[in-house]
Amino acid sequence: MIKKCLFPVAGYGTRFLPATKSMPKEMLPVVNKPLVQYGVEESLEAGLTEIGFVTGRGKRAIEDHFDVSYELEHQIAGTDKEAYLTSIREVMAQCTFSFTRQREMRGLGDAILNGRRLVGDEPFAVVLSDDLCVKDGEMDGVLKQMVGLFKQFRCSIVAIQEVPDDQIHKFGVIGGEQIKQGIYQVNHMVEKPKKEDAPSNLAIIGRYILTPDIFEILENTPPGKNGEIQLTDALLTQAKSGCVIGYKFKGKRFDCGSVDGFVDATSYVYKNLYSQK
Ligand code: G1P
Repeated sequence: MIKKCLFPVAGYGTRFLPATKSMPKEMLPVVNKPLVQYGVEESLEAGLTEIGFVTGRGKRAIEDHFDVSYELEHQIAGTDKEAYLTSIREVMAQCTFSFTRQREMRGLGDAILNGRRLVGDEPFAVVLSDDLCVKDGEMDGVLKQMVGLFKQFRCSIVAIQEVPDDQIHKFGVIGGEQIKQGIYQVNHMVEKPKKEDAPSNLAIIGRYILTPDIFEILENTPPGKNGEIQLTDALLTQAKSGCVIGYKFKGKRFDCGSVDGFVDATSYVYKNLYSQK
């Protein structure tokens, strides 16, 4: 079964400058927890405990976050402040963390290809931590829903969401045939199309399950939109030769890659999910 989850975290986070000048955008806190930790917790909930990061220069704070801080532990040992470390300790106790570096920013597809050595020859998940997904009530997290679906379909799965027309150009967009309520067999995909070129208003959000043949496809995928190697293009190739599923997930998603989405996420988490731990 799926055990590995890849986090591409090499991006610059320019929209959050100057905050992200020396700090990775993935470490920006949504209330009291860095964005990337939400993604790792979602992965852990789905049973994916082997976490792989495709990092870049200036991202060492992410490695440190998932490692022991001896000075800190020593300072607060035995005090009530230890409670603040509960969530990160839980994640650290149950997951392993591996890191590799993407040397040049050549797109999401290239980042995934860089993660190949961490993944090997098995199906794996991908989380783009900019997309913060939170549960609606008691239901499973998005990745857990997708892992369940993978057991049924055994092919790559992309999480999708309907977006308004004026948002379409920000996403990869799928076209497909609905085979069950909320489940689409993908037959078209375009990365960040103009609204008039989009096959639908079903946008890909940053949760994927990929079968390992994607690596070979990515190796042969030429640069696409913005001169970057696009995962969306590789997935279209996979959809044409085999099967890719689009899944309308249940839950809430915040675009924490934008300031507005980040502020919305912060206020939602503060009101609904924040705990002292
Ligand atoms: C990436 C993908 C895009 C997807 C989006 C989801 O774009 O390339 O297909 O819709 O993530 O957040 P990015 O937002 O990293 O430019």
